[in-house]
Amino acid sequence: MENDLMKNIIIIRVSEDLSYLTKLGWFNEQGGGSLRSILLRSLLSEPTFKVTVLTRESSKARGSIPSTASVITIADSYLLENLIKAFKGQDAVVNAITSFSVAEQHKFIDAAIAAGVRHYVPSEYALDNNTPEAQELSPVFKDKATVQQHGYTDSWLIVPRSPRNSFPGLHYPSRIITFTDDGEGSFSTTTLDNTALALNRVLLNPSTTANQIIFTSDFATTQKELVETIERLTGEKWERKSISTNEAIPALKKRWENGEAYAGYGLINIGFTKGTYSGHFEPVGQVRNKELGLLKKNLEQVVKEALAEVGHPGFCS
Ligand SMILES: NC(=O)c1ccc[n+]([C@@H]2O[C@H](COP(=O)([O-])OP(=O)(O)OC[C@H]3O[C@@H](n4cnc5c(N)ncnc54)[C@H](OP(=O)(O)O)[C@@H]3O)[C@@H](O)[C@H]2O)c1
Repeated sequence: MENDLMKNIIIIRVSEDLSYLTKLGWFNEQGGGSLRSILLRSLLSEPTFKVTVLTRESSKARGSIPSTASVITIADSYLLENLIKAFKGQDAVVNAITSFSVAEQHKFIDAAIAAGVRHYVPSEYALDNNTPEAQELSPVFKDKATVQQHGYTDSWLIVPRSPRNSFPGLHYPSRIITFTDDGEGSFSTTTLDNTALALNRVLLNPSTTANQIIFTSDFATTQKELVETIERLTGEKWERKSISTNEAIPALKKRWENGEAYAGYGLINIGFTKGTYSGHFEPVGQVRNKELGLLKKNLEQVVKEALAEVGHPGFCS
């Protein structure tokens, strides 16, 4: 349908700054981790879309924005009138704002409505934030749920996460995995490639996904299965450590309340890996990978790709 066509897309900048990943010890310290500009590059690869990036004055990442994207720079305060001006003429807003600022989105949604934007994709890429357990665990999950409830005509959401480079407790350089309790909690995973592809597909077919939470999962796994797969493929033994959630959750909450941002990531990590915080979609929800035409992936293939990315001997092409 012609009037369903999303042509002008504005994306709230996704960072190229990966320095903090090293501090977190995620699997791929060279280039995995956050969503970075993967969503942006994917949107730019779709000829139908005319993509604009909204970035803050203080942004250090402006130099890395491809020249095929237009750029609008606004003051860091994200004033409502500036947002409305930036959103005028756009068909869709894709927000990928940093985790600890997701609550800013109430303003972004109001601006999108005022500017006549038809679709708004919130900064999600998470577990199902609508359960009391998830909201109680992490302020970020709670903020994301509140944003969903803000209400927006014709809005839709995507709820995936990526498997190897976000939060599964892996530290490749020291070959250590830190289990959340016994490491046997099941969680759904979506690779970065498929996350970006899902975004494009949803924007290309907005009528089929409007006002819905879109669950995707390339496969479900556990931390234990993940490390056993790495060991089987590489022949190397990894050290197993574990955190007790009974002790870690109250300690992390206290540190978070004292202003320690990284404690917030610790809570998010537990949410993803414990298995009881609505991050395992297959048993409860409709997974939409097939309908969206996403690439088929399996754990072994993804682990091999990750080993190649970190330059593990025998896996580089
Ligand atoms: N499921 C997963 O595995 C997973 C993994 C990572 C992220 N996520 C989710 O994906 C979304 C994007 O996360 P991300 O890690 O890609 O974000 P990020 O790299 O930390 O930040 C994204 C952008 O937010 C903008 N921003 C606005 N206000 C900011 C502030 N006060 N401090 C820092 N940046 C600010 C910055 O853009 P400018 O500087 O250009 O203005 C920045 O580049 C979040 O909802 C996050 O929770 C999910």
